[in-house]
Amino acid sequence: MVRHKTYAFMFAAGLSFLLAFATTGLSKDVSWAEKTSALTPSASAPTGTLTANELKELTARGEALFKATFTDLDGVGRPGATQAILPTKARSKALNKFARTSGLDAGSCAACHNQPFIGGAGDFVTNVFVSEGFTNADFDSTDPQFSNERGTNHLFGAGLIELLAREMSTDLASHRKQVLADARKVGKSASITLITKGVNFGILSADPDGLLDLSNITGVDDDLIVRPFSQKGVMTSLRQFSVNAMNHHHGMQADERFGDRWTGEADFDEDGHNDEVGAADISALVAWQATLPSPQQTFPKDEDWQQAAIEGEKAFGEFGCDTCHIKALPLKVLSFSDPGPFDVSGTLNSTSVKDSAIYDLSLLAWTGSLERNEKGEILVPLFGDLKRHTMTDQSNEQLGNEMLSQRFVDRTIFLTSELWGVGSTSPYGHRNDFTTLDSIIRAHGGDAAFSKKLYSDASEDSRLALIAFLKTLVIQP
Ligand code: HEC
Ligand code: HEC
Repeated sequence: MVRHKTYAFMFAAGLSFLLAFATTGLSKDVSWAEKTSALTPSASAPTGTLTANELKELTARGEALFKATFTDLDGVGRPGATQAILPTKARSKALNKFARTSGLDAGSCAACHNQPFIGGAGDFVTNVFVSEGFTNADFDSTDPQFSNERGTNHLFGAGLIELLAREMSTDLASHRKQVLADARKVGKSASITLITKGVNFGILSADPDGLLDLSNITGVDDDLIVRPFSQKGVMTSLRQFSVNAMNHHHGMQADERFGDRWTGEADFDEDGHNDEVGAADISALVAWQATLPSPQQTFPKDEDWQQAAIEGEKAFGEFGCDTCHIKALPLKVLSFSDPGPFDVSGTLNSTSVKDSAIYDLSLLAWTGSLERNEKGEILVPLFGDLKRHTMTDQSNEQLGNEMLSQRFVDRTIFLTSELWGVGSTSPYGHRNDFTTLDSIIRAHGGDAAFSKKLYSDASEDSRLALIAFLKTLVIQP
Protein backbone atom coordinates (compact mmCIF):
# COMPACT_ATOMS: atom_id res chain seq x y z
CA MET A 1 0.00 0.00 0.00
CA VAL A 2 2.75 2.33 1.03
CA ARG A 3 4.54 1.46 -2.17
CA HIS A 4 1.50 2.24 -4.30
CA LYS A 5 1.18 5.57 -2.60
CA THR A 6 4.80 6.30 -3.41
CA TYR A 7 4.23 5.45 -7.07
CA ALA A 8 1.08 7.53 -7.17
CA PHE A 9 2.98 10.41 -5.65
CA MET A 10 5.83 9.98 -8.11
CA PHE A 11 3.38 9.84 -10.99
CA ALA A 12 1.62 12.99 -9.84
CA ALA A 13 4.92 14.76 -9.28
CA GLY A 14 6.14 13.64 -12.70
CA LEU A 15 2.94 14.81 -14.35
CA SER A 16 3.04 18.19 -12.66
CA PHE A 17 6.73 18.48 -13.64
CA LEU A 18 5.82 17.75 -17.25
CA LEU A 19 2.95 20.22 -17.14
CA ALA A 20 5.18 22.81 -15.53
CA PHE A 21 7.77 22.13 -18.23
CA ALA A 22 5.22 22.51 -20.99
CA THR A 23 3.69 25.69 -19.68
CA THR A 24 6.72 27.27 -18.06
CA GLY A 25 7.79 30.75 -19.01
CA LEU A 26 6.33 34.21 -18.96
CA SER A 27 5.07 34.30 -22.49
CA LYS A 28 2.91 37.42 -22.33
CA ASP A 29 3.78 39.86 -25.07
CA VAL A 30 5.39 42.76 -23.21
CA SER A 31 8.33 44.81 -24.40
CA TRP A 32 10.62 43.31 -21.76
CA ALA A 33 9.57 39.73 -22.54
CA GLU A 34 12.35 37.15 -22.43
CA LYS A 35 11.97 36.14 -26.01
CA THR A 36 13.52 37.29 -29.25
CA SER A 37 11.25 39.89 -30.78
CA ALA A 38 13.10 39.75 -34.12
CA LEU A 39 11.83 36.18 -34.66
CA THR A 40 8.69 36.08 -36.80
CA PRO A 41 8.16 32.36 -37.46
CA SER A 42 4.84 32.77 -39.24
CA ALA A 43 5.77 35.73 -41.46
CA SER A 44 6.24 35.05 -45.16
CA ALA A 45 9.67 35.43 -46.70
CA PRO A 46 10.43 38.50 -48.82
CA THR A 47 10.05 38.18 -52.60
CA GLY A 48 11.08 40.18 -55.66
CA THR A 49 13.72 42.89 -55.83
CA LEU A 50 13.92 44.78 -52.57
CA THR A 51 14.29 48.55 -52.48
CA ALA A 52 17.20 50.03 -50.54
CA ASN A 53 14.88 50.70 -47.60
CA GLU A 54 13.34 47.26 -47.61
CA LEU A 55 16.80 45.73 -47.72
CA LYS A 56 17.91 47.92 -44.82
CA GLU A 57 14.93 46.85 -42.74
CA LEU A 58 15.47 43.18 -43.52
CA THR A 59 19.20 43.23 -42.75
CA ALA A 60 18.52 45.06 -39.48
CA ARG A 61 16.27 42.18 -38.46
CA GLY A 62 18.93 39.71 -39.62
CA GLU A 63 21.52 41.47 -37.52
CA ALA A 64 19.21 41.37 -34.51
CA LEU A 65 18.75 37.62 -35.03
CA PHE A 66 22.50 37.07 -35.40
CA LYS A 67 23.07 38.91 -32.10
CA ALA A 68 20.06 37.52 -30.24
CA THR A 69 20.61 35.20 -27.30
CA PHE A 70 17.80 32.77 -28.00
CA THR A 71 15.74 31.58 -25.03
CA ASP A 72 13.37 28.84 -23.94
CA LEU A 73 10.50 31.06 -25.05
CA ASP A 74 11.89 31.04 -28.59
CA GLY A 75 12.26 27.25 -28.60
CA VAL A 76 15.92 26.92 -27.71
CA GLY A 77 17.10 23.33 -27.24
CA ARG A 78 16.66 20.04 -29.05
CA PRO A 79 16.23 17.33 -26.38
CA GLY A 80 14.83 14.90 -28.93
CA ALA A 81 17.08 15.69 -31.90
CA THR A 82 20.76 15.91 -32.73
CA GLN A 83 22.94 18.56 -34.37
CA ALA A 84 23.04 16.51 -37.59
CA ILE A 85 22.29 18.34 -40.80
CA LEU A 86 19.67 15.78 -41.82
CA PRO A 87 16.87 15.74 -39.21
CA THR A 88 17.95 12.99 -36.83
CA LYS A 89 16.35 11.86 -33.59
CA ALA A 90 18.58 11.60 -30.53
CA ARG A 91 19.09 8.00 -29.38
CA SER A 92 18.64 9.14 -25.81
CA LYS A 93 17.81 12.53 -24.40
CA ALA A 94 20.86 14.59 -23.49
CA LEU A 95 21.55 15.14 -19.77
CA ASN A 96 22.17 18.86 -20.21
CA LYS A 97 20.67 21.38 -22.56
CA PHE A 98 24.12 22.87 -23.24
CA ALA A 99 27.25 20.81 -23.90
CA ARG A 100 30.47 22.22 -25.36
CA THR A 101 30.85 19.20 -27.68
CA SER A 102 27.61 18.15 -29.35
CA GLY A 103 25.78 21.34 -28.39
CA LEU A 104 23.95 23.47 -27.69
CA ASP A 105 27.29 25.22 -27.59
CA ALA A 106 26.44 28.94 -27.58
CA GLY A 107 23.68 31.45 -26.84
CA SER A 108 23.94 33.35 -30.11
CA CYS A 109 25.66 33.38 -33.50
CA ALA A 110 27.57 36.46 -32.34
CA ALA A 111 28.93 34.57 -29.34
CA CYS A 112 31.39 32.92 -31.74
CA HIS A 113 31.52 35.19 -34.79
CA ASN A 114 32.82 38.38 -33.18
CA GLN A 115 36.47 38.96 -34.01
CA PRO A 116 37.24 41.82 -34.61
CA PHE A 117 33.52 42.68 -34.82
CA ILE A 118 30.22 40.83 -34.90
CA GLY A 119 30.12 38.80 -38.12
CA GLY A 120 33.82 38.07 -37.71
CA ALA A 121 35.88 35.05 -36.76
CA GLY A 122 36.48 33.63 -33.27
CA ASP A 123 39.22 32.59 -30.91
CA PHE A 124 40.06 28.93 -30.15
CA VAL A 125 37.46 28.99 -27.37
CA THR A 126 34.73 29.29 -30.03
CA ASN A 127 35.77 26.12 -31.88
CA VAL A 128 32.99 23.81 -33.00
CA PHE A 129 32.99 20.02 -32.94
CA VAL A 130 31.71 18.94 -36.32
CA SER A 131 30.57 15.35 -36.63
CA GLU A 132 28.55 13.89 -39.41
CA GLY A 133 26.12 13.21 -36.62
CA PHE A 134 24.63 9.91 -37.63
CA THR A 135 26.51 7.54 -35.41
CA ASN A 136 28.18 9.87 -32.96
CA ALA A 137 25.58 12.56 -32.49
CA ASP A 138 25.61 12.68 -28.72
CA PHE A 139 29.36 12.41 -28.04
CA ASP A 140 30.72 14.19 -24.98
CA SER A 141 34.43 14.03 -25.73
CA THR A 142 36.79 16.29 -27.67
CA ASP A 143 38.64 13.17 -28.86
CA PRO A 144 39.00 13.54 -32.65
CA GLN A 145 37.55 10.09 -33.24
CA PHE A 146 34.11 11.61 -32.54
CA SER A 147 34.32 14.95 -34.32
CA ASN A 148 36.45 17.28 -36.40
CA GLU A 149 37.31 20.42 -34.44
CA ARG A 150 36.99 23.61 -36.49
CA GLY A 151 37.83 27.24 -35.78
CA THR A 152 35.28 29.98 -36.42
CA ASN A 153 35.80 31.85 -39.67
CA HIS A 154 34.52 35.31 -40.53
CA LEU A 155 31.55 36.15 -42.73
CA PHE A 156 32.61 39.50 -44.23
CA GLY A 157 32.09 39.49 -47.99
CA ALA A 158 30.20 36.17 -47.77
CA GLY A 159 27.55 37.33 -50.25
CA LEU A 160 30.19 37.89 -52.92
CA ILE A 161 31.71 34.48 -52.18
CA GLU A 162 28.36 32.78 -52.70
CA LEU A 163 27.73 34.73 -55.91
CA LEU A 164 31.15 33.72 -57.28
CA ALA A 165 30.48 30.08 -56.43
CA ARG A 166 27.10 30.18 -58.18
CA GLU A 167 28.59 31.63 -61.37
CA MET A 168 31.33 28.98 -61.27
CA SER A 169 28.79 26.17 -60.80
CA THR A 170 26.79 27.50 -63.75
CA ASP A 171 29.95 27.54 -65.90
CA LEU A 172 30.89 24.00 -64.90
CA ALA A 173 27.39 22.77 -65.71
CA SER A 174 27.69 24.27 -69.19
CA HIS A 175 31.09 22.58 -69.63
CA ARG A 176 29.40 19.28 -68.80
CA LYS A 177 26.65 19.93 -71.32
CA GLN A 178 29.28 20.84 -73.91
CA VAL A 179 31.37 17.67 -73.49
CA LEU A 180 28.28 15.47 -73.65
CA ALA A 181 27.22 17.19 -76.88
CA ASP A 182 30.75 16.88 -78.32
CA ALA A 183 30.92 13.15 -77.62
CA ARG A 184 27.52 12.59 -79.18
CA LYS A 185 28.44 14.60 -82.23
CA VAL A 186 31.75 12.84 -83.02
CA GLY A 187 30.50 9.42 -81.93
CA LYS A 188 33.46 8.74 -79.64
CA SER A 189 34.58 9.91 -76.22
CA ALA A 190 35.43 13.57 -75.71
CA SER A 191 37.10 15.56 -72.92
CA ILE A 192 36.97 19.10 -71.61
CA THR A 193 39.14 20.98 -69.11
CA LEU A 194 36.95 22.37 -66.37
CA ILE A 195 38.17 25.93 -66.08
CA THR A 196 35.99 28.65 -64.65
CA LYS A 197 37.18 32.13 -63.68
CA GLY A 198 40.72 30.85 -64.25
CA VAL A 199 40.39 28.04 -61.66
CA ASN A 200 41.10 24.57 -63.02
CA PHE A 201 38.97 21.71 -61.67
CA GLY A 202 40.52 18.98 -63.84
CA ILE A 203 39.24 17.08 -66.83
CA LEU A 204 35.76 15.76 -67.54
CA SER A 205 35.28 13.09 -70.18
CA ALA A 206 32.11 11.75 -71.74
CA ASP A 207 31.17 8.77 -73.91
CA PRO A 208 28.77 9.16 -76.85
CA ASP A 209 26.14 7.19 -74.90
CA GLY A 210 26.17 9.90 -72.19
CA LEU A 211 28.37 8.18 -69.62
CA LEU A 212 30.62 10.63 -67.74
CA ASP A 213 34.13 9.87 -66.48
CA LEU A 214 34.55 11.84 -63.25
CA SER A 215 37.87 10.30 -62.20
CA ASN A 216 40.00 13.25 -63.31
CA ILE A 217 38.03 16.09 -61.76
CA THR A 218 39.59 17.68 -58.69
CA GLY A 219 38.72 20.08 -55.88
CA VAL A 220 34.95 20.01 -56.45
CA ASP A 221 32.09 17.55 -55.91
CA ASP A 222 31.02 15.12 -58.67
CA ASP A 223 27.90 17.21 -59.30
CA LEU A 224 30.26 20.10 -60.22
CA ILE A 225 28.59 22.44 -57.73
CA VAL A 226 31.15 24.71 -56.09
CA ARG A 227 30.46 24.69 -52.35
CA PRO A 228 32.25 27.69 -50.87
CA PHE A 229 31.33 27.40 -47.19
CA SER A 230 32.89 25.56 -44.25
CA GLN A 231 36.63 25.02 -44.21
CA LYS A 232 36.02 21.72 -45.93
CA GLY A 233 34.17 23.37 -48.82
CA VAL A 234 31.09 21.19 -48.47
CA MET A 235 28.31 23.73 -47.80
CA THR A 236 26.45 25.34 -50.67
CA SER A 237 24.88 28.53 -49.40
CA LEU A 238 24.43 30.96 -46.55
CA ARG A 239 20.88 29.72 -46.35
CA GLN A 240 21.90 26.08 -45.91
CA PHE A 241 24.56 27.06 -43.38
CA SER A 242 22.17 29.23 -41.39
CA VAL A 243 19.61 26.44 -41.12
CA ASN A 244 22.40 24.05 -40.01
CA ALA A 245 23.82 26.55 -37.51
CA MET A 246 20.48 27.45 -35.93
CA ASN A 247 19.88 23.78 -35.16
CA HIS A 248 23.45 22.82 -34.26
CA HIS A 249 24.31 25.68 -31.94
CA HIS A 250 20.93 26.72 -30.60
CA GLY A 251 18.41 23.94 -31.14
CA MET A 252 16.33 26.44 -33.09
CA GLN A 253 14.81 24.35 -35.87
CA ALA A 254 13.90 25.96 -39.16
CA ASP A 255 10.57 24.95 -40.56
CA GLU A 256 11.98 24.46 -44.07
CA ARG A 257 14.00 21.46 -42.87
CA PHE A 258 12.60 20.26 -39.57
CA GLY A 259 8.95 21.26 -39.96
CA ASP A 260 5.91 19.13 -40.59
CA ARG A 261 6.38 19.12 -44.36
CA TRP A 262 9.69 17.26 -44.21
CA THR A 263 9.66 15.36 -40.96
CA GLY A 264 5.93 14.90 -40.42
CA GLU A 265 6.31 16.59 -37.03
CA ALA A 266 5.74 20.20 -36.01
CA ASP A 267 7.98 19.73 -32.96
CA PHE A 268 10.74 17.49 -34.31
CA ASP A 269 13.18 18.34 -31.49
CA GLU A 270 10.55 17.58 -28.83
CA ASP A 271 11.10 20.70 -26.78
CA GLY A 272 7.42 21.55 -26.54
CA HIS A 273 7.76 24.30 -29.13
CA ASN A 274 6.28 24.10 -32.64
CA ASP A 275 7.41 26.16 -35.64
CA GLU A 276 10.48 27.78 -34.15
CA VAL A 277 12.12 29.46 -37.12
CA GLY A 278 10.26 30.46 -40.28
CA ALA A 279 11.42 31.08 -43.83
CA ALA A 280 11.32 34.85 -43.22
CA ASP A 281 13.68 34.50 -40.23
CA ILE A 282 16.23 32.51 -42.23
CA SER A 283 15.88 35.04 -45.07
CA ALA A 284 16.68 37.91 -42.68
CA LEU A 285 19.76 36.09 -41.33
CA VAL A 286 20.94 35.37 -44.88
CA ALA A 287 20.33 38.96 -46.03
CA TRP A 288 22.45 40.36 -43.21
CA GLN A 289 25.32 37.96 -43.87
CA ALA A 290 25.12 38.40 -47.66
CA THR A 291 25.41 42.17 -47.36
CA LEU A 292 28.33 42.29 -44.91
CA PRO A 293 31.10 44.40 -46.48
CA SER A 294 34.13 42.61 -47.82
CA PRO A 295 37.47 43.08 -46.03
CA GLN A 296 39.76 45.58 -47.76
CA GLN A 297 43.51 45.87 -47.87
CA THR A 298 44.56 48.71 -45.58
CA PHE A 299 48.04 50.16 -45.34
CA PRO A 300 49.34 51.12 -41.91
CA LYS A 301 50.91 54.53 -41.17
CA ASP A 302 54.32 52.93 -40.52
CA GLU A 303 56.36 53.57 -43.70
CA ASP A 304 58.70 50.60 -43.20
CA TRP A 305 55.66 48.35 -42.96
CA GLN A 306 54.17 49.92 -46.12
CA GLN A 307 57.40 49.27 -48.02
CA ALA A 308 57.63 45.71 -46.69
CA ALA A 309 54.00 45.02 -47.62
CA ILE A 310 54.70 46.03 -51.24
CA GLU A 311 57.71 43.67 -51.32
CA GLY A 312 55.63 41.01 -49.58
CA GLU A 313 52.89 41.14 -52.19
CA LYS A 314 55.54 40.37 -54.84
CA ALA A 315 56.89 37.51 -52.72
CA PHE A 316 53.31 36.16 -52.43
CA GLY A 317 53.41 35.70 -56.22
CA GLU A 318 57.00 34.43 -56.31
CA PHE A 319 56.31 31.76 -53.69
CA GLY A 320 53.28 30.55 -55.69
CA CYS A 321 50.86 31.43 -52.89
CA ASP A 322 48.60 32.99 -55.51
CA THR A 323 48.16 29.70 -57.38
CA CYS A 324 45.52 28.92 -54.73
CA HIS A 325 45.05 32.19 -52.89
CA ILE A 326 44.16 33.98 -56.14
CA LYS A 327 44.12 37.71 -55.53
CA ALA A 328 40.73 38.37 -57.09
CA LEU A 329 38.08 36.46 -59.03
CA PRO A 330 35.79 38.28 -61.49
CA LEU A 331 32.08 38.44 -60.72
CA LYS A 332 29.52 39.26 -63.40
CA VAL A 333 26.38 40.03 -61.44
CA LEU A 334 25.76 41.68 -58.07
CA SER A 335 22.19 40.55 -57.50
CA PHE A 336 21.91 37.99 -54.76
CA SER A 337 18.81 35.83 -54.98
CA ASP A 338 17.59 33.98 -51.92
CA PRO A 339 16.50 31.16 -51.89
CA GLY A 340 19.24 30.41 -54.41
CA PRO A 341 19.57 27.95 -57.28
CA PHE A 342 21.76 25.14 -55.93
CA ASP A 343 20.30 24.02 -52.63
CA VAL A 344 18.62 20.65 -52.26
CA SER A 345 15.71 19.43 -50.14
CA GLY A 346 15.87 20.65 -46.57
CA THR A 347 16.89 24.15 -47.58
CA LEU A 348 14.53 26.25 -49.64
CA ASN A 349 15.74 26.76 -53.20
CA SER A 350 14.55 28.85 -56.12
CA THR A 351 12.37 26.05 -57.49
CA SER A 352 10.61 25.38 -54.18
CA VAL A 353 9.31 28.94 -53.80
CA LYS A 354 7.10 30.98 -56.12
CA ASP A 355 9.45 33.91 -56.16
CA SER A 356 12.88 34.42 -54.59
CA ALA A 357 13.91 37.71 -53.03
CA ILE A 358 16.63 39.64 -54.83
CA TYR A 359 19.13 41.76 -52.96
CA ASP A 360 20.89 44.17 -55.27
CA LEU A 361 24.33 44.45 -53.67
CA SER A 362 25.14 47.42 -55.91
CA LEU A 363 22.84 49.44 -53.63
CA LEU A 364 25.47 49.12 -50.92
CA ALA A 365 28.11 51.86 -50.83
CA TRP A 366 31.01 49.45 -50.17
CA THR A 367 30.49 47.51 -53.41
CA GLY A 368 31.10 50.76 -55.33
CA SER A 369 34.72 50.81 -54.18
CA LEU A 370 35.52 47.34 -55.58
CA GLU A 371 37.75 47.38 -58.66
CA ARG A 372 36.41 46.22 -62.02
CA ASN A 373 38.18 44.65 -65.00
CA GLU A 374 38.01 45.78 -68.62
CA LYS A 375 34.85 43.68 -69.13
CA GLY A 376 33.16 45.58 -66.30
CA GLU A 377 33.22 42.54 -63.99
CA ILE A 378 33.72 43.18 -60.27
CA LEU A 379 37.07 41.94 -59.01
CA VAL A 380 36.32 40.23 -55.70
CA PRO A 381 39.59 40.47 -53.72
CA LEU A 382 39.17 37.21 -51.80
CA PHE A 383 42.68 35.71 -52.10
CA GLY A 384 41.14 32.30 -52.70
CA ASP A 385 40.00 29.93 -55.46
CA LEU A 386 36.94 28.25 -53.89
CA LYS A 387 38.63 24.93 -54.61
CA ARG A 388 39.65 22.07 -52.30
CA HIS A 389 43.26 20.90 -52.08
CA THR A 390 45.22 18.12 -50.37
CA MET A 391 47.17 19.78 -47.58
CA THR A 392 49.38 16.99 -46.24
CA ASP A 393 52.11 14.67 -47.45
CA GLN A 394 54.42 12.16 -45.80
CA SER A 395 56.89 14.79 -44.62
CA ASN A 396 54.32 17.33 -43.41
CA GLU A 397 51.13 16.18 -41.74
CA GLN A 398 50.43 19.15 -39.52
CA LEU A 399 47.06 19.81 -41.15
CA GLY A 400 46.20 16.11 -41.14
CA ASN A 401 44.79 16.11 -37.63
CA GLU A 402 41.19 15.19 -38.49
CA MET A 403 40.03 11.58 -38.31
CA LEU A 404 36.63 11.75 -39.97
CA SER A 405 36.06 12.42 -43.64
CA GLN A 406 33.18 14.82 -44.13
CA ARG A 407 30.62 14.33 -46.87
CA PHE A 408 32.97 11.91 -48.67
CA VAL A 409 35.81 14.44 -48.84
CA ASP A 410 39.08 12.96 -47.67
CA ARG A 411 40.26 14.07 -44.22
CA THR A 412 43.42 15.77 -45.51
CA ILE A 413 41.61 17.95 -48.07
CA PHE A 414 40.48 21.51 -47.30
CA LEU A 415 39.07 24.50 -49.10
CA THR A 416 41.63 27.25 -49.76
CA SER A 417 41.07 29.79 -46.99
CA GLU A 418 40.14 33.18 -48.33
CA LEU A 419 42.89 35.40 -46.98
CA TRP A 420 40.92 38.67 -47.08
CA GLY A 421 40.65 39.59 -43.42
CA VAL A 422 43.46 37.26 -42.29
CA GLY A 423 45.23 40.24 -40.66
CA SER A 424 42.33 40.44 -38.18
CA THR A 425 41.63 36.79 -37.42
CA SER A 426 44.43 35.06 -35.52
CA PRO A 427 44.83 32.23 -34.55
CA TYR A 428 44.94 30.37 -37.87
CA GLY A 429 44.26 27.06 -39.57
CA HIS A 430 41.09 24.98 -39.70
CA ARG A 431 41.46 24.11 -36.01
CA ASN A 432 42.48 27.63 -35.03
CA ASP A 433 45.62 26.33 -33.34
CA PHE A 434 48.47 28.10 -35.16
CA THR A 435 49.40 31.30 -33.35
CA THR A 436 51.50 32.90 -36.10
CA LEU A 437 51.14 33.36 -39.85
CA ASP A 438 54.64 31.93 -40.20
CA SER A 439 53.62 28.68 -38.50
CA ILE A 440 50.44 28.14 -40.56
CA ILE A 441 52.41 28.80 -43.77
CA ARG A 442 55.00 26.21 -42.69
CA ALA A 443 52.15 23.76 -42.02
CA HIS A 444 51.23 23.76 -45.75
CA GLY A 445 52.03 20.34 -47.27
CA GLY A 446 50.57 18.26 -50.11
CA ASP A 447 49.57 20.38 -53.10
CA ALA A 448 51.11 23.42 -51.37
CA ALA A 449 54.44 21.78 -50.43
CA PHE A 450 56.27 23.48 -53.32
CA SER A 451 55.06 26.87 -52.17
CA LYS A 452 55.92 26.26 -48.55
CA LYS A 453 59.43 25.23 -49.65
CA LEU A 454 59.89 28.46 -51.64
CA TYR A 455 58.80 30.35 -48.53
CA SER A 456 61.02 28.50 -46.08
CA ASP A 457 64.05 28.66 -48.41
CA ALA A 458 63.68 32.44 -48.90
CA SER A 459 65.60 35.08 -46.95
CA GLU A 460 64.24 36.20 -43.61
CA ASP A 461 63.60 39.65 -45.11
CA SER A 462 61.37 38.16 -47.83
CA ARG A 463 59.48 36.09 -45.30
CA LEU A 464 58.99 39.09 -43.03
CA ALA A 465 57.82 41.12 -46.02
CA LEU A 466 55.24 38.45 -46.81
CA ILE A 467 53.89 38.68 -43.26
CA ALA A 468 53.81 42.50 -43.57
CA PHE A 469 51.63 42.06 -46.66
CA LEU A 470 49.27 39.50 -45.08
CA LYS A 471 48.79 41.85 -42.13
CA THR A 472 47.41 44.54 -44.45
CA LEU A 473 44.47 42.24 -45.32
CA VAL A 474 42.22 43.38 -42.51
CA ILE A 475 38.54 43.59 -41.66
CA GLN A 476 37.51 47.25 -41.49
CA PRO A 477 35.08 48.64 -38.90
C1 HEC B 1 29.96 27.86 -31.21
C2 HEC B 1 30.49 28.77 -32.22
C3 HEC B 1 29.62 29.18 -33.38
C4 HEC B 1 28.33 29.67 -33.36
C5 HEC B 1 27.43 29.88 -32.17
C6 HEC B 1 27.99 29.94 -34.73
N1 HEC B 1 29.03 29.64 -35.56
FE1 HEC B 1 29.09 29.90 -37.57
N2 HEC B 1 30.88 28.97 -37.65
C7 HEC B 1 31.56 28.46 -36.57
C8 HEC B 1 32.65 27.63 -37.03
C9 HEC B 1 33.62 26.86 -36.16
C10 HEC B 1 32.62 27.66 -38.43
C11 HEC B 1 33.53 26.88 -39.41
C12 HEC B 1 32.88 25.54 -39.62
C13 HEC B 1 33.67 24.58 -40.49
O1 HEC B 1 34.66 24.98 -41.10
O2 HEC B 1 33.27 23.42 -40.57
C14 HEC B 1 31.50 28.52 -38.79
C15 HEC B 1 31.15 28.84 -40.10
C16 HEC B 1 30.03 29.58 -40.45
C17 HEC B 1 29.67 29.90 -41.80
C18 HEC B 1 30.48 29.53 -43.04
C19 HEC B 1 31.52 30.57 -43.29
C20 HEC B 1 32.57 30.15 -44.30
O3 HEC B 1 33.16 31.05 -44.92
O4 HEC B 1 32.83 28.97 -44.47
C21 HEC B 1 28.49 30.58 -41.75
C22 HEC B 1 27.71 31.14 -42.91
C23 HEC B 1 28.10 30.67 -40.35
N3 HEC B 1 29.07 30.06 -39.59
C24 HEC B 1 26.93 31.26 -39.89
C25 HEC B 1 26.50 31.17 -38.57
C26 HEC B 1 25.18 31.58 -38.12
C27 HEC B 1 24.11 32.20 -38.99
C28 HEC B 1 25.13 31.31 -36.78
C29 HEC B 1 23.96 31.46 -35.83
C30 HEC B 1 22.72 30.83 -36.25
C31 HEC B 1 26.41 30.76 -36.41
N4 HEC B 1 27.22 30.68 -37.51
C32 HEC B 1 26.73 30.41 -35.11
C33 HEC B 1 31.26 28.71 -35.25
C34 HEC B 1 30.04 29.16 -34.78
C1 HEC C 1 47.81 24.36 -53.04
C2 HEC C 1 47.06 25.49 -52.58
C3 HEC C 1 47.71 26.47 -51.62
C4 HEC C 1 48.90 27.15 -51.76
C5 HEC C 1 49.88 27.07 -52.91
C6 HEC C 1 49.03 27.98 -50.58
N1 HEC C 1 47.94 27.81 -49.77
FE1 HEC C 1 47.59 28.79 -48.04
N2 HEC C 1 45.99 27.60 -47.69
C7 HEC C 1 45.51 26.64 -48.54
C8 HEC C 1 44.48 25.88 -47.87
C9 HEC C 1 43.70 24.72 -48.46
C10 HEC C 1 44.36 26.42 -46.58
C11 HEC C 1 43.46 25.91 -45.43
C12 HEC C 1 44.35 25.05 -44.56
C13 HEC C 1 43.67 24.48 -43.34
O1 HEC C 1 43.51 25.18 -42.37
O2 HEC C 1 43.31 23.32 -43.37
C14 HEC C 1 45.32 27.52 -46.49
C15 HEC C 1 45.48 28.33 -45.39
C16 HEC C 1 46.32 29.43 -45.34
C17 HEC C 1 46.38 30.38 -44.26
C18 HEC C 1 45.54 30.34 -42.98
C19 HEC C 1 44.33 31.24 -43.09
C20 HEC C 1 43.49 31.26 -41.84
O3 HEC C 1 42.61 32.14 -41.79
O4 HEC C 1 43.64 30.44 -40.95
C21 HEC C 1 47.33 31.30 -44.58
C22 HEC C 1 47.76 32.51 -43.78
C23 HEC C 1 47.87 30.92 -45.87
N3 HEC C 1 47.22 29.78 -46.31
C24 HEC C 1 48.87 31.58 -46.53
C25 HEC C 1 49.56 31.06 -47.63
C26 HEC C 1 50.78 31.59 -48.15
C27 HEC C 1 51.48 32.82 -47.61
C28 HEC C 1 51.15 30.80 -49.18
C29 HEC C 1 52.42 30.87 -49.98
C30 HEC C 1 53.65 30.71 -49.24
C31 HEC C 1 50.13 29.78 -49.33
N4 HEC C 1 49.19 29.96 -48.36
C32 HEC C 1 50.09 28.82 -50.33
C33 HEC C 1 45.93 26.41 -49.83
C34 HEC C 1 47.13 26.88 -50.35
